[in-house]
Amino acid sequence: MIKKIESQGYYIEIGNHTESSLQQLLDNDFAQAKKVIIVDENTHDNCLEALLTQYTALKEAEVILLPPGEENKVMEICFQVWEALTEYKIGRRDLIINLGGGVITDLGGFIASVYKRGVQFINMPTSLLAMVDASSGGKTGIDLGPYKNQLGLFAYPICTIIDPGFLHTLPDNEKVWGKAEMLKHGLIADRSHWDALKEKDVHDINLDDIAVSVAIKNDIVLSDPKEENERKKLNFGHTIAHALEAYFLDKSPLPHGYAVGLGLLVESKISMDSGLLPKEEYFEIEHFILQQYDKIDNISSIAQTLLGYMQNDKKKEGEEYNFTLLQRIGEASINHSIEEAIILEAIKVIDAQF
Ligand SMILES: NC(=O)c1ccc[n+]([C@@H]2O[C@H](COP(=O)([O-])OP(=O)(O)OC[C@H]3O[C@@H](n4cnc5c(N)ncnc54)[C@H](O)[C@@H]3O)[C@@H](O)[C@H]2O)c1
Repeated sequence: MIKKIESQGYYIEIGNHTESSLQQLLDNDFAQAKKVIIVDENTHDNCLEALLTQYTALKEAEVILLPPGEENKVMEICFQVWEALTEYKIGRRDLIINLGGGVITDLGGFIASVYKRGVQFINMPTSLLAMVDASSGGKTGIDLGPYKNQLGLFAYPICTIIDPGFLHTLPDNEKVWGKAEMLKHGLIADRSHWDALKEKDVHDINLDDIAVSVAIKNDIVLSDPKEENERKKLNFGHTIAHALEAYFLDKSPLPHGYAVGLGLLVESKISMDSGLLPKEEYFEIEHFILQQYDKIDNISSIAQTLLGYMQNDKKKEGEEYNFTLLQRIGEASINHSIEEAIILEAIKVIDAQF
């Protein structure tokens, strides 16, 4: 049974893709359209075949194969894809399918929405992180130098089709990293989701867990699509995560979900040190996060550099460091101005030397 969630002018389906609306879309709305499927090397090898076998309409599709990894979520790759789309004579009535993790759905959504002022696209997320987070909500974009998602726009797919079956080939560490965004959803909005996930090995995460996470994000996005207020809650953990990713990008890039896992912990510590989050709840979070996400050697020695990256954070307003913090597990509050000293102290919690 497919679960269907209505979103900002599009819908999200969760279940086996063969039961989704894809066949119908291909037969009706896009019967005359040219089709393009954007994949990276891993989703090409592990996920594409299932689509080509199932949907005859996709047999003629142009497949654009990209190298995997965050370091490829950049403008140079976009230029190559736009040139390919031009060569294939793709027009505004044609269809792009983004089949991959969050890098492919962010990049592919951006490429589709800028090309000829917008080609319609479908997101088919294949990583846990993209299923529960990146493939819905309308944020598309690419990185600029060390700055994450510095270029981008809000653009919505026709639909997002989440088939948990794709997770069979996803490496275990990717599942653990993807789980960080689910934990975030629990921490900011739903204690019972956090409790359920704490008990679960990543292999046991199922369609219902994914649906709960997607629904939490979707409710928040619908209440504030352009991130003026409520949607800032989804940034919990991400101010620190993006600074960590920026620092490591040209060294040994940190997976986004891993950075988010550590970011959740640091920002929970800031929440406690600011007098918001009760101590026992903080220690519950610390205990669980450190079981899943390893600390980093000597990270506090570069804490000032991390602050430098935070100064260029998109979410920063004025001179203050603006954080979403936790009041308790299951409840977040936005727009907290935090002093540097509190941030520097909290970073120590992810330092393997402490
Ligand atoms: N737009 C948003 O709202 C939003 C939200 C959260 C994260 N993001 C973005 O998402 C990105 C991270 O996403 P990610 O963790 O999925 O990264 P990713 O796209 O790099 O995927 C992780 C790895 O898993 C591989 N992979 C994906 N599906 C697979 C499968 N089924 N089988 C085998 N291998 C598979 C990929 O090739 C890649 O090597 C970041 O760029 C982040 O900024 C965006």
